[in-house]
Amino acid sequence: MLIKIKELLNINVLEKTLNDFYKIIKVPIAIVDNSGELIVCAGWNSVCSDISCSHEEFHRMCLNEYWKNNSGCLHCKREISCLNGLKMYRIPVYYRDYVTANIFLYHNADIINSSILWDLLVQFFESFAITFGDYIAKSYKSVTSDNQCQIDYEELKVSYEQLNAVNEQLRFKIWELTQVNVSGQRRGPDTIEPSHKKSIMDAVAALSYMVEKKDSYTAKHQKKVALLACKIASKLKMDKNRLEGLYISAMLHDIGKVGVPSAILTKPDKLTKTEFELIKGHVECAYDILSKIDFPWPVADIVLQHHEKINGSGYPYGLTDKEILLEAKIISVADVVEAITAHRPYKPAFSITYAMEEIKKYAGVYYDAEVVEACVKVCTENLWRELEESNFADIHFIR
Ligand SMILES: [Fe+2]
Ligand SMILES: [Fe+2]
Repeated sequence: MLIKIKELLNINVLEKTLNDFYKIIKVPIAIVDNSGELIVCAGWNSVCSDISCSHEEFHRMCLNEYWKNNSGCLHCKREISCLNGLKMYRIPVYYRDYVTANIFLYHNADIINSSILWDLLVQFFESFAITFGDYIAKSYKSVTSDNQCQIDYEELKVSYEQLNAVNEQLRFKIWELTQVNVSGQRRGPDTIEPSHKKSIMDAVAALSYMVEKKDSYTAKHQKKVALLACKIASKLKMDKNRLEGLYISAMLHDIGKVGVPSAILTKPDKLTKTEFELIKGHVECAYDILSKIDFPWPVADIVLQHHEKINGSGYPYGLTDKEILLEAKIISVADVVEAITAHRPYKPAFSITYAMEEIKKYAGVYYDAEVVEACVKVCTENLWRELEESNFADIHFIR
């Protein structure tokens, strides 16, 4: 085909799409045609600058050489290295059974080690490659039929959004990738200015206060869950940065209850099915609220997942073990222990011994077995009494 792909496509839209991908996954992406010419790329600077390989030179330096020997190759290797040794993963884009372009993903050690994430990411881009292939086909058709009108590239954007929306698994795992900076550094609170950290804590305090105004039970419950969750996480040797995110997530985990009528929250009788469905909606309501804040931790996702169970019987998405964030697993256990031991309008307070039996019974079924083990240790090493005696006084992990 004499017409170059790059000349057919609306590069601005493609660039925006790839930049959107990059913003979410933090993995450099490039689309290169089968002659080795770069069509569009995003995020590549961040890895290439380390070796003085600039964005503009990407295709010449990294891929042209490779494609000289392999152009049109259908079955050649998926994992390749560029001339400078950067590892890349190739996802072919087909047009009439030919590889007409390739999507390259930067393949660094952190991502490879997280094989589930990597598989999801590859799966996602394979779907995108099909959409992209269809798009190229439509563009060719438009040119060959003398239709000089600009193709409506919105179609590609819509397809991308649909792909993104259906890939819930990827969405839930994406935060782990966002933790990985492409140059190997972890994104975390260390990189935050103290003034920014203070603003975050002010926002958390304001949101907690809002919950308190609406429902004092929930406000107290969140504080107790946050304290217990942090004790469990310390037992599991979670690092301090992550612990801070856990603390904030736990402090706000039931914030979505502001969207549930007070009469239902404090109803002394058994809830109807409809009322229970309304309560279940608190996780999505919380997600809507918290995703508006640019936390340096995946607070919105953690909160969204705090009622998921490892056997897939939880809500809102029925995620299973590996799909659930560790922070959410910890909050889930701390949540149930607090709920059992607290007095509520609809139930008396049960003993901590009973709570321990309950979580042990469902370890490995609803709750992560290691988290349960750590929680049992925390609550039996006299810590529970200490926690109660301190009246779950506020803790300050973030100064
Ligand atoms: Fe909850
Ligand atoms: Fe809760």
